[in-house]
Amino acid sequence: MSRVLMVSSEAAPFAKTGGLADVLGSLPPELNALGDECAVVLPRYGAIDVRASEKVFERMRIYLGGGYYECDIYQKVQRGTKFFFVEHLGLYGRDGFYGDRYGEFGDNHVRFAALCSAALGVARYLFPTQIFHCHDWQAGLLPLFLKNFVTGDPAFYGAKSLFTIHNLGYQGLVDRSKLWDAGVEDRFYRSDLLEFNGMASLLKSGLVFADALTTVSPRYAQEIQTPEYGFGMDGMLRARSGVLHGILNGCDYEEWDPRTDRHIVANYSADEPGGKVGCKLALLEEFGMGHRIERPLIGIVSRLATQKGFDLVASVLDEMLGWRDATLIVLGSGEEAIENQFSWYASRYPDRMIFWRGYNNELAHHIEAGADLFLMPSRYEPCGLNQMYSLRYGTLPVVRATGGLDDTIDAETGFKFWRFESWDLAECLRHALAVYGDKDRFEKMRQSAMGRDYSWAKSARQYSELYRELLES
Ligand code: ADP
Ligand code: GLC
Repeated sequence: MSRVLMVSSEAAPFAKTGGLADVLGSLPPELNALGDECAVVLPRYGAIDVRASEKVFERMRIYLGGGYYECDIYQKVQRGTKFFFVEHLGLYGRDGFYGDRYGEFGDNHVRFAALCSAALGVARYLFPTQIFHCHDWQAGLLPLFLKNFVTGDPAFYGAKSLFTIHNLGYQGLVDRSKLWDAGVEDRFYRSDLLEFNGMASLLKSGLVFADALTTVSPRYAQEIQTPEYGFGMDGMLRARSGVLHGILNGCDYEEWDPRTDRHIVANYSADEPGGKVGCKLALLEEFGMGHRIERPLIGIVSRLATQKGFDLVASVLDEMLGWRDATLIVLGSGEEAIENQFSWYASRYPDRMIFWRGYNNELAHHIEAGADLFLMPSRYEPCGLNQMYSLRYGTLPVVRATGGLDDTIDAETGFKFWRFESWDLAECLRHALAVYGDKDRFEKMRQSAMGRDYSWAKSARQYSELYRELLES
């Protein structure tokens, strides 16, 4: 049994922009169920309502650079897990987690350095901790603080840190001159420590100082050690390959299972799949397209970021929506160029393409249940959760074979293409549509997909084992 404090900028249901939040909402309760003791620290953003939480610490002083911040700590127990919210109005009490309509906040390095420092405070006063489990660049300074600044403090004797890379593409870059505001002395600005291409990287801080590293799928753990996927950090990741592990994320079947899903019009399962067609009809009718029930319906739910590969999709839409007469529904928001691309195609094919711009959890469930195929043509994908949700909903994934997509999808459960080329995507979609036309074959694949089990328990056991090894090392 290990006492683990997770540090993250997101956790569902409190603050979510992507899969990171899903992981922080699901993994800690699963670890607690296994017998570890796991809690989570995250910022109390403006949007988090703390009225139902308990204030457990007042005016905790956080020293960074030349000054200090006074934070209040709130605690809420959710699914048997303690979530600690760090409240400081000046740092977190704004709209947006990382930025607003004017762009990224200029003080993110301070905001997240303060989160790391506050997490140490939580460990000292509220939740004695053996393992600090840090997620992505926002928690990257904690291993540095732990190894360098609190070594004489008995509260941290024997404590270890684990750093999980959810996405190497976000590196927490900050100008050298600003490091001091984040509590880091200039001596850490070295090519073997935080320096990265002329900037300081808070992600690199985690990669260098943590006792062990994980990524969210075995395949991604290999990929990031290559120049193609390493974002310039592959060399140092190869050097740390002995402590780098790939642990696949799980799927939270309490939230994402058509058998019990509260958001869909008809529940169904592999044994009783009848309800799925009702879900498809309801989804199409939501957008006045009920008459297209016989046509294959392709769904997309995603952040619209370059990572996700949607630039490839543009070149195949004329064929898929045009003479192959498929229907496409896209839910997402993000980079303007990708949003514009989908808006343009939606106006070109108003009777067979829907683009819902924004974030909508309800509609995400309707799409998982209602679509026939689910498209994820990612350039790279550390794990990806939606393809796992899609399997359970019998919505066959069409994916590029990278990262967790490669690890979770095979020829019995979905459709894969390898090279990041529009021709390869087109071929893959043609094949998927041909299989859709062969009802028996499609049904058989659906059955296999719905039978796959990616529940969190297996991943949680792997983390638990890793914590144990770390504490024994
Ligand atoms: P990433 O973390 O890279 O965005 P994942 O596949 O790991 O990708 O997780 C994405 C999560 O965010 C899923 O739970 C997905 O349903 C959700 N999501 C993404 N975009 C939207 C959206 N526009 N509306 C609702 N949910 C969304
Ligand atoms: C990141 C990755 C995604 C992964 C998620 C949760 O946002 O882009 O692939 O599933 O983190 O680990």
